[in-house]
Amino acid sequence: MQSNSHTEPAIMIVFGAGGDLAQRKLVPALFNLFLDGWLPEQFRIVGLDRVQMDDQAFRQRLREGVDRFSRRGKAEDQDWDRFSSHLAYLVADFADQEAFGLLSDRIAACEKEWGQPADRVFYLATPPTMMELIAQQLHRAGLSDDRERARIVFEKPFGRDLDSACKLNDVLTSFFAETQIYRIDHYLGKETVQNILAFRFANALFEPIWDQRYIDHVQITVAEEVGVGHRGGYYDQAGALRDMIQNHLLQILCLVAMEPPVSFGADEIRNKKVDVLRAIRPIPEDIVDQFAVRGQYGEGQIDGKHVPAYRHENDVSSTSNTETYAALKLFIDNWRWQNVPFYLRTGKCLPARVSEVSVVFRPVPHQSFPKPALEAWETNRLVIQIQPNEGIAMCVQAKRPGLEVRLDSVAMEFCYQEVFQTPSPEAYETLLLDVLQGDATLFMRADQIEAAWSVVTPVLEAWAAKAPVGFPNYPAGSWGPEAADRLLTGDERHWLAPMADVE
Ligand code: BG6
Repeated sequence: MQSNSHTEPAIMIVFGAGGDLAQRKLVPALFNLFLDGWLPEQFRIVGLDRVQMDDQAFRQRLREGVDRFSRRGKAEDQDWDRFSSHLAYLVADFADQEAFGLLSDRIAACEKEWGQPADRVFYLATPPTMMELIAQQLHRAGLSDDRERARIVFEKPFGRDLDSACKLNDVLTSFFAETQIYRIDHYLGKETVQNILAFRFANALFEPIWDQRYIDHVQITVAEEVGVGHRGGYYDQAGALRDMIQNHLLQILCLVAMEPPVSFGADEIRNKKVDVLRAIRPIPEDIVDQFAVRGQYGEGQIDGKHVPAYRHENDVSSTSNTETYAALKLFIDNWRWQNVPFYLRTGKCLPARVSEVSVVFRPVPHQSFPKPALEAWETNRLVIQIQPNEGIAMCVQAKRPGLEVRLDSVAMEFCYQEVFQTPSPEAYETLLLDVLQGDATLFMRADQIEAAWSVVTPVLEAWAAKAPVGFPNYPAGSWGPEAADRLLTGDERHWLAPMADVE
């Protein structure tokens, strides 16, 4: 996590720089870091891709990306000119060792010009099939040798199951040391996700009640209004469990459930998180249905617009059984969380884009109020809103004004935007700066990735072995399949309407 320190001279080498990620996310984030004065004076971004382009065309393409996707909107000409002088492009075939020789020369030339060694960040904005090849080529060219200065960044998906993730980790760690590897989970860069740590460990108030004695259950919802868009080809091979739960939702769960860290050192935080993953009770293979629900959207309406069924999306098989919705019930077998269910759900084409965590407390031990006073009574609930309205709300009971005693739920709310009046950085700004500063706290270590795959493996296997019944089973624009409701009603609980949706 960033502090106000300055970064060393640095060269960021982006593989796949002609693609979507560089244009939509990486360069807008780097441009914002530049505007906010976080980048070192001696800084270069070198984009590599197969597409034929010169520096000028490359810069123009990235400018279009910034104008369209930066949180600040269109760039001022002056700012862009200052920034874009740091951008260069190399046409490269990643299978060709010569390209890596040229890259090496380019890096050496920068260092010569600056009169000092620079940090090198190799960013793979490429399809996952390129990971091994590029890492190997960098290694062969001697570009992974400097363990302090050379870092490599991978985007997800990181494997498609436990086996492939372990193999990938083995291969990559034969070229780069684990300390040089940064595996991105962009949810960890989101301001409110990081705030879970601040909220839990910078306040004395909550920790004493943060366990099975006071907490009844936890719900983690990451709902998306969008469908698969132009990513049907990738998504149809992945599905919601791989795409969202294995990484983003389990990472959020770790932050909610982890033990207090001794320090904010990268390994200390990551050790505490991996302890949570390892303590998750394995879902029994023969009764997966009691713990996991899958769904796929059929046609429906969102915001008054017709949405086609998933099976009719581009690049999706018309008989696809891929899930676009997944819900899990998990238990963490340790002292703190014994028998507290964690319910996780995520899906595409749901009624709203909203991500939040609800920590639901146990009821009071004894109800002193007369029955009529309790009609609207609810248990206490703490809601961590991740998006779109970043904030925290504590739902408590209060007496409704009037001569009768009637209780009602009220929310004590903190909203980032109102309190701090300053826009939050994009997740990629936080994460890219962390890589430049060599801080791996918010990145996934190999053991975390593998532990997270282990959690979802029984479900992946059970779902692969048995075709789903009744797909599509929820209309676009609804809150998912009925079976997901039953996952909770069977425990005499129900999914809580997201605060953001209620407002
Ligand atoms: C990505 C998934 O990791 O996260 C996408 O691959 C998903 O399918 C996206 O849409 C959601 O991210 P955000 O930041 O928009 O909530």
